[in-house]
Amino acid sequence: MSNSMHGRSFLTLLDYSADEIRYLLELSKTLKAEKKAGKMEKRLEGKNIVLLFEKTSTRTRCAFEVAAMDMGAGVTFLDQKSSQMGKKESLEDTANVLGRMFDGIEYRGYEQKVVEDLAKFSGVPVFNGLTDIDHPTQALADVLTMMEHCKKPIEKCKLVFCGDTRNNVALALMYICAKLGIHYVGYGPRELHPAQEIYDKLAADAAASGAVLECSDDIAAIKGADAVYTDIWASMGEEDLIAERVKLLTPYRVTSELMAATENADCIFLHCLPSFHDFETQFASSQKALGLDIREVTDEVFRSPASKVFDQAENRLHTIKAVLVAHLA
Ligand code: CP
Ligand code: NVA
Repeated sequence: MSNSMHGRSFLTLLDYSADEIRYLLELSKTLKAEKKAGKMEKRLEGKNIVLLFEKTSTRTRCAFEVAAMDMGAGVTFLDQKSSQMGKKESLEDTANVLGRMFDGIEYRGYEQKVVEDLAKFSGVPVFNGLTDIDHPTQALADVLTMMEHCKKPIEKCKLVFCGDTRNNVALALMYICAKLGIHYVGYGPRELHPAQEIYDKLAADAAASGAVLECSDDIAAIKGADAVYTDIWASMGEEDLIAERVKLLTPYRVTSELMAATENADCIFLHCLPSFHDFETQFASSQKALGLDIREVTDEVFRSPASKVFDQAENRLHTIKAVLVAHLA
């Protein structure tokens, strides 16, 4: 398939066909192999991208920076403190200026409308590095990791996301599963299941690919999973909801018993990271002092041979590089 993505904005996987997503995954594999062989072509020489972060990041920021540098592109990082955006300058004016200087813009923040407006007003490709309702570069890395570690073709796989099944990571996974024909199960409390409109939006894609998309609070739904996935219980910006989430989500913590309930000895464990799997972080230990155990996964599972979370984190680099190359080269 030839590349139809040049010049477009990567805002959500909903805008991409199954073939385009498969193209990005194949390109990720090629770029990963090239890097491992020490033979990288500077496909983005002479280009410059700007990274706008209104929320914190380790993986996404580093992946965009290293991917751009590996490909010969220049990178500028701006966070809320160091830019005028939204404080002394409107989003429209900022986008206009950035579009005159850069070939592409990455944005991480709150509302999806911000990435849409950046694309509208800048005139250059915009890359969604996470919003409150989507995390499309993450889902690409997740599926690449499944392709590498699951023992079946991807369209025969079953992915179970445990916890807050309507968060940004869960929704991006639902979208990619609908496109590629992967069986998706959101395992979590009903209060946090996605709205019907999400299923409605995905119905045509799921019908075309054969994907089954479902959410359940019944442990029986995880049987046969090829990958069990979880994320923190309160996303960035939701920290004040943590006590309520602990109450709702403790039964859905990923434990060895939950992994055993898949009845699949080959089932892998995935996590977008960062993760609370022990009390070695300031946040987890301060919550513990308040009587709250915020671990979404046990240390035992996190460190088990089934856990592929660091391969998954590395794949952020290769998949983000593919996204940059497909849209900008
Ligand atoms: N998974 C992910 O997006 O990580 P960061 O928040 O560190 O970018
Ligand atoms: N759901 C998490 C993902 C972090 C990568 C958050 O938005 O904080």
